[in-house]
Amino acid sequence: MDAQVSAGASVPADEEPAVSPSDFRSFADQFATGVAVVTASGPEGEKSGVTITGVTSLSLDPPLYLVCLDNGSNTLGLVREAKAFALHFLTKDQSDISRVFASKQADKFSGVGHAIGETGSPIIHGVLAAAECVVLRITAIGDHTIVVGEVKATTVNGGEPLLYHRGAYAALEGGS
Ligand SMILES: Cc1cc2nc3c(=O)[nH]c(=O)nc-3n(C[C@H](O)[C@H](O)[C@H](O)COP(=O)(O)O)c2cc1C
Repeated sequence: MDAQVSAGASVPADEEPAVSPSDFRSFADQFATGVAVVTASGPEGEKSGVTITGVTSLSLDPPLYLVCLDNGSNTLGLVREAKAFALHFLTKDQSDISRVFASKQADKFSGVGHAIGETGSPIIHGVLAAAECVVLRITAIGDHTIVVGEVKATTVNGGEPLLYHRGAYAALEGGS
């Protein structure tokens, strides 16, 4: 299936938002999530990756995941070019990897073990689980872009997940 790209949906830009950014953030902070990293490779072999919590399982048949990337994300540019990305769920021992991919540093992969997967995206070693996706749809909305990926391959290594809640990393209580 060809990727479809739709322009920004109609969110009125000139209206005052009903909720302030700080109230929005304070609300969103209450939701506990896992931590994911999206990676992509460009045509010259350049690699990029971004830490995200904006990720949702979308459909089982066909198998789809969606990720929400800031319009200013460098990785989003490579995902658009490559029409593919890899999605990783981090373990509780990988907060350092989360910090690297949440940064804007030039080579995020220099200290991170990885290999190039079947669909061309970098696959980070030792994660909880990884999925290789090809882009099915890209929709810009607000200051983020929703990227829908069709899952082409999965690897599940297992372990304890890295969590994120109220601006801090956490692990499951009772986790080993
Ligand atoms: C816990 C956490 C969650 C984040 N969630 C998202 C997200 O869902 N989408 C996003 O675009 N950026 C998210 N970010 C911010 C990006 O990781 C950050 O802007 C990064 O520097 C972007 O890198 P890039 O421009 O190289 O792609 C998150 C950061 C952290 C620490």
